[in-house]
Amino acid sequence: MSTKGSLFLKRRVERFRNAVDAALCDAAKFNDNCPDRLGDAIRYSLLGSGKRLRPLFVLFANGLCGGDCFNAIPAACAVEMIHAYSLVHDDLPAMDNDDLRRGRLTCHKKFDEPTAILVGDALIPLAFEMLGKLPSKELLGICSLELARAAGAAALVGGQMDDIANEKNLDRKHKNASINLLEQIHLRKTGALIRVSLRLGGLIAGGSVAQIDALDRYGKNFGLAFQITDDLLDVLGNENAAGKRLHKDAEMNKWTYPALLGIKKSEEEAQRYVNEAIYALKIFDNKLPDKDILIKTAHDLIGRNK
Ligand code: IPE
Ligand code: IPE
Ligand code: MG
Ligand code: MG
Ligand code: MG
Repeated sequence: MSTKGSLFLKRRVERFRNAVDAALCDAAKFNDNCPDRLGDAIRYSLLGSGKRLRPLFVLFANGLCGGDCFNAIPAACAVEMIHAYSLVHDDLPAMDNDDLRRGRLTCHKKFDEPTAILVGDALIPLAFEMLGKLPSKELLGICSLELARAAGAAALVGGQMDDIANEKNLDRKHKNASINLLEQIHLRKTGALIRVSLRLGGLIAGGSVAQIDALDRYGKNFGLAFQITDDLLDVLGNENAAGKRLHKDAEMNKWTYPALLGIKKSEEEAQRYVNEAIYALKIFDNKLPDKDILIKTAHDLIGRNK
């Protein structure tokens, strides 16, 4: 691609990211009934320096299906709110017990554990309140149902449960690690929210069944590649760049691709899912800028440092 072309795409991503950050900032202002400590902890956890991958996916998917990005901003904020809550709870001592996130103290370290639990409790309804800003009641209904399922017991939370249960040997049924079981965990704990981000963007734009299906396939494969590369980052990465503690998964007895398959095979699997994700986009017109962005985002997963 020409330098001019890549500059155009870079500017488009920056514009989307700024729009998301401004809307998140706006949504995290509360009236006097919200205690200052809770409001501060919510803003600390939501507005930190994350990659904003999931909200950007809502907007890119929306663009691919011919939507007006402005209409999809509430859904972009909603998925980031669910993501931010999942990180705050994931970092708690009872879960992964981490003290660093996005380059600074985790929520429970900066504030305290009860506050961090309540931040999560508050971010979930806030996400659904955001969806109330979508342009129609019909979209509110469809998107709420999709997001509730993706965040729920048979998806994100269920994946987190199995992740923790395996590590702590809570579930006898899952005593022996296997790639199939691990893939089912990755699909739920990480894949479900990424997948629904793409679906919501497409649905808000009024995408066809074939288009939503293609976005879903991109999201599913990207989600798997994303968690494999996160697990690789834990082994190979640098804490300063990643902004979180690394080299912990093995110590905690986590099931991961590198633990089960080794580094080289895990890298190959990540690349295979990246290729599958990109292949799923073939039905979209090559002239659409958001197609180039989604392809580049998938390629950039390989060897990422944060
Ligand atoms: C981290 O997600 C949690 C996983 C699903 C591996 P991100 O790597 O997207 O975290 P931020 O939002 O950029 O901090
Ligand atoms: C987290 O996976 C998935 C979530 C649903 C938050 P990890 O536990 O591997 O994520 P990091 O490494 O703490 O970011
Ligand atoms: Mg975890
Ligand atoms: Mg973790
Ligand atoms: Mg990890």
